[in-house]
Parts: sequence; structure tokens; C-alpha cells
Amino acid sequence: MQSYQRLLLANKAWASEKLNLDEAYFEELAADQKPEFLWIGCADSRVPANEVTGTHPGEIFVHRNVANLVLHTDINMLSVLQYAVEVLKVKHVLVVGHYGCGGVKAAMTNKDYGLINKWLRNIKDVYDKHERELRHIEDEQKRFDRLVELNVEEQVSNLAKTTIIQKAWHQRQGPQLHGWVFNLNNGLINTVTEMQPGSHIDPIYRYDFKPEDIQKDPDLSTHYGA
Ligand code: CO
Repeated sequence: MQSYQRLLLANKAWASEKLNLDEAYFEELAADQKPEFLWIGCADSRVPANEVTGTHPGEIFVHRNVANLVLHTDINMLSVLQYAVEVLKVKHVLVVGHYGCGGVKAAMTNKDYGLINKWLRNIKDVYDKHERELRHIEDEQKRFDRLVELNVEEQVSNLAKTTIIQKAWHQRQGPQLHGWVFNLNNGLINTVTEMQPGSHIDPIYRYDFKPEDIQKDPDLSTHYGA
């Protein structure tokens, strides 16, 4: 048997197990999704959103890319974010990095990796921004771990710079933003940073919204100006 066939067999077993436990499982699954969480994580195969958080299908809306970046030019990530925040109205956005991240590690080197240089450049910029702190960490492993954390912090702050998040904060006092780092060595998540709705954003990145933009959603108009 080829390895991909193992996946299809396991899928059949999974589906029938779900049906055995609950006859209506797939009817309910197919009916709707109301996830409370958006997970923006690394594409690394060792950090599956549902598995490491003990959640089930329908609970987490997921976007993953190399080194969990939030870039204001990435139409893929922004589309996921807009849908999650404006339509699904998630309560929490989680940026989840992980120690030992190959993307972050590659960005710390001077190697030419081809096309992906352009993506990793964003992590080099995080390094450069925090160079003063990082250069004092002599141990390379510790400096690597710290850059993973700083990268997550930076991506959370990038979320807060989007109109999608700022508008939602005005409209409904949500979502909360979280920066987490998963530890492959013990399976535990470190909480690194958190931004509550209305948190400080550097003035140059703030957007003004017209009252009519905010009041489009009648359920939310009472929160305007809060
Ligand atoms: Co990674």
C-alpha cells in the first residue's frame, strides 16, 4: 500500500467512528460553522491547530503559512482574516509560532534560499528591529527562541494595524489578539503577548471610521464610540 492510501483508509475509519458515536454528527457538521477562534499558525506539520488544543472540527478557523506571518500585502491571509472577523465574528485571533521554526531559523542565516528569501525578509526585518536586544543573547539557541517570540509579537501588532481589526474593535469591542509559541519539546503553549480591543496603536497606523461605516450592522451600533 502506498502512503497516501493509508490516509484514505484512516479517513473511512474516522468517518464511521464518528457515525457510531453520533448518527447526526455529519448533519450537524455540514449545517454551519461558528468557530470562536482564528488560528494563524506556521505551516509546520508538527503544529496542527486542533490536535494541540484539544479542539474539534468546527471550532477553529485556520490560516497557516511559513513562520506564521501577518503581512499587509498578503491577500490570502487578509481574506481569511476579513471573513473570520466580519462574517464569523471570531472572539479571538491567535498567532501561533513555535520554537524550532525552520522559517525563522533560515531567516537568521545568510544563505540564499531562492524565492522564499522574499518571504523570510519579513523575519529579517523583525530581527533588525530588535537587533539591540538580540545581539546581547550570546547563546545562539536562546537568540533563535527569542526571535520566534519577537516574530509572534510583531505579527500580532501587524494584525492591530489592519482596518479589519480596527473596525471590529470599534464595532463590537472584539476580537482579542493573542501571540502564542508552541514548544515542540513538551507540547505546551507559551503565551507571549495579548492585545485587548482598543489597545494602543501607534498614531500613524490608526484609521478613522465614519459613523455610517460603523453603524451598518444594527446589532453593533450601540457600541460605537465606546
Ligand atoms: Co515554523
